[in-house]
Amino acid sequence: MKVISIVGARPQLVKLAPIAAAFAETEHEHVIVHTGQHYDADLSDVFFSGLGIPDPDVHLGVGSGSHGVQTGAVLSALDPVLDEHRPDWVLVYGDTNSTIAGALSAVKQHIPVAHLEAGLRSFNRRMPEEHNRVLTDHCADLLLAPTEEAMRHLAGEGLEHRARLSGDVMVDICLRIRDAVLAGEHPAPALPEGIDPAEPFLLATLHRPDNTDDPERLSALVGSLAGLPLPVALLAHPRLVARAEQHGIKLEQGSVHVGRPLPYAGLVAAVLASAGVVTDSGGLQKEAYLLDRACTTVRPETEWVETLEGGWNVLVPDPHDLPAAQWAATACRPAPGTPRGVPYGDGTAARRVVRLMEEAAGA
Ligand code: UD1
Repeated sequence: MKVISIVGARPQLVKLAPIAAAFAETEHEHVIVHTGQHYDADLSDVFFSGLGIPDPDVHLGVGSGSHGVQTGAVLSALDPVLDEHRPDWVLVYGDTNSTIAGALSAVKQHIPVAHLEAGLRSFNRRMPEEHNRVLTDHCADLLLAPTEEAMRHLAGEGLEHRARLSGDVMVDICLRIRDAVLAGEHPAPALPEGIDPAEPFLLATLHRPDNTDDPERLSALVGSLAGLPLPVALLAHPRLVARAEQHGIKLEQGSVHVGRPLPYAGLVAAVLASAGVVTDSGGLQKEAYLLDRACTTVRPETEWVETLEGGWNVLVPDPHDLPAAQWAATACRPAPGTPRGVPYGDGTAARRVVRLMEEAAGA
């Protein structure tokens, strides 16, 4: 079986790591195509080197742009690549512009598409990721769902015949790296200046367009973080830095200490060192959950609803309206300690993904 993985943005590289390792245990040919959606070393190269992922076989180098420009550039650059390789499967990951472009290019060339992380829904049509994931699910041939909830969403859209429960490959990688960090196999993470890892601090990230692109909301969010009673290590995504600069909003204020995005092991170590997490990232919500830290999500909804049970994750839709004291108490609460079960699987999802693709291909 020949499989092409199409990746391009940081969270896809994290998911690619266990998938590439699972394919490496087999006779199957696994080709990696990097679209170039993320190109800064912080968001791309460090994930390949840090997670032991083989270098991409093909790099499309599309870079940034509006949704149409970026998606269109990936689409047109992929056509000749897929035509040359004619794989048995194209495997696309998550919900980015690279995902929808990869899926579209493949179906139009009658190449079977498998979608990893199928069935997630925010039901928020303002999110570019929501269009990407819904459209990808509806054109893919094999829907690899991370959770029972995702399976229910797919059934609700008439897609159950193509859906399989694979578990979540993020568990595979997160737990492997956690163990390596705890065993002292990674250097201490480069936390922002002013953060003392020996003292309690919160780890924060913000990158969703709904949070970064509206100056009033971004200003309210940064103001809320700045007023927290614990120091906040804000790992700033380039979109956040660019929008804050554009709107004249100072990120480094009050409790907030700004640093660069971390490599994956650094991020896991930073979560483990933190007293809690404040974020709008889907991946980080789950990493906090898997690493036993309370998470506060600055969004009106989450795709990862399992994290809300028992208070491990709390949604704060509108920090602007929240009185500082309530916001502070929420963000700084201790981890709840309530039992969680294993809604995301047991850390062997990547091998299951390979088996499900073999079965569906009749290999
Ligand atoms: C993308 C995904 C999002 C995912 C996120 C993870 C889409 C629609 N969104 O959002 O689902 O959660 O990746 O990070 O695909 N930039 C750089 N350097 C880079 C990449 C981007 O400076 O290497 C800047 C550019 O100004 C760019 C902006 O960040 O315009 C946004 O990048 P883009 O890839 O469009 O989306 P993300 O916000 O990263």
